Amino acid sequence: MSKTILIAGGTSGIGAEALRALRSDGHVVYCACRSPEKLPDDPDVHGLAFDASAASPSLDLPEALDGFAYFPGTITLKPFGRLTTQDFLHDFQVNFLGAAGLLQAALPALLKGDNSAVVLFSTVAVQTGLPFHASISAAKGAVEGLTRSLAAELAPRIRVNCIAPSLTETPLAGPLVNSDEKKASSAKRHPLNRIGDPKEIAELVKFLLGSQSMFMTGNIIKADGGLSSLKLF
Ligand SMILES: NC(=O)c1ccc[n+]([C@@H]2O[C@H](COP(=O)([O-])OP(=O)(O)OC[C@H]3O[C@@H](n4cnc5c(N)ncnc54)[C@H](OP(=O)(O)O)[C@@H]3O)[C@@H](O)[C@H]2O)c1
Repeated sequence: MSKTILIAGGTSGIGAEALRALRSDGHVVYCACRSPEKLPDDPDVHGLAFDASAASPSLDLPEALDGFAYFPGTITLKPFGRLTTQDFLHDFQVNFLGAAGLLQAALPALLKGDNSAVVLFSTVAVQTGLPFHASISAAKGAVEGLTRSLAAELAPRIRVNCIAPSLTETPLAGPLVNSDEKKASSAKRHPLNRIGDPKEIAELVKFLLGSQSMFMTGNIIKADGGLSSLKLF
C-alpha cells in the first residue's frame, strides 16, 4: 500500500538513496531540503524548503503522514581543545534541534497516519568512544535520548527508531573516503573489513518505516560492520 512519507535531506548520501528506494516502492515523498531544485522531476516527490541550521520551520505539510526520516548531519572532527562553542551549537542545531523541530511540526500529521513510524540518525561514535568526535557524539547522543523518550511517549500510535552507522561512503564522509588508501584503512578497522554503503542503510530506513518492523520501537540499530560490538583479536 502506498504511504506518504516526509524526509528531511533527500538530496545526497543515504537520504537520496532512501528517496529512490521509497519511490521505487510507490510511496509519495515530501522532501524538506535546502535545495528542492536538486530533487528528481517526479510528480510524487514534493520539495519543501527547509534549512536545519535555521529556526523552526513552517512547512506546507499534507494532512496525514505515515512516516518521517531525518537525514541532515555533520562531521566536525577536531581535537577537543580546538572545538568552539559555535562548533557545539552548530552540531546540536543540525543533528538534534532540526530533527526535533521538524518532528514537532509533523506530529499532528503523523498522528493521523497509518501505523506511522519515525527514523532518526545517530553515529557509531555515541556507543563507542572515538577520538575527535566530542561534539558530534554529544549531539547524536541527544538524538538517541530523543529516540527512546519519544518511542515511549508516542507508543502505541507512532514507532520511533534510530540508525547508528559507522563510516559510510557519502558526500558527508567525503574527506575520509576520497582515496582507495583511506577507504582500505577505514575498512580494516571494521570486523567486516569494509565501510558502509548508503544503499544498504537506505534499505534499513525503508524497513523501519514499513510494515515488516511493526513490532520494533525505541531501538538504536547498529549499522557499523561490527565496530561497536566485536573485537576480533
Ligand atoms: N556518512 C557517514 O559516514 C555517517 C556516519 C555516521 C552517521 N551518519 C549520519 O547519517 C545521516 C545521513 O548522512 P549522509 O552521510 O547521507 O550525509 P550527506 O551525504 O551529507 O547527506 C545529508 C543530507 O542532509 C542534507 N542537509 C545537510 N545539512 C542540512 C541542513 N542544514 N538543512 C537541510 N538539509 C541539510 C543534505 O542536503 P544538501 O544537498 O543541501 O547538502 C543531504 O541531503 C546523517 O545524520 C549523518 O550524521 C553518517
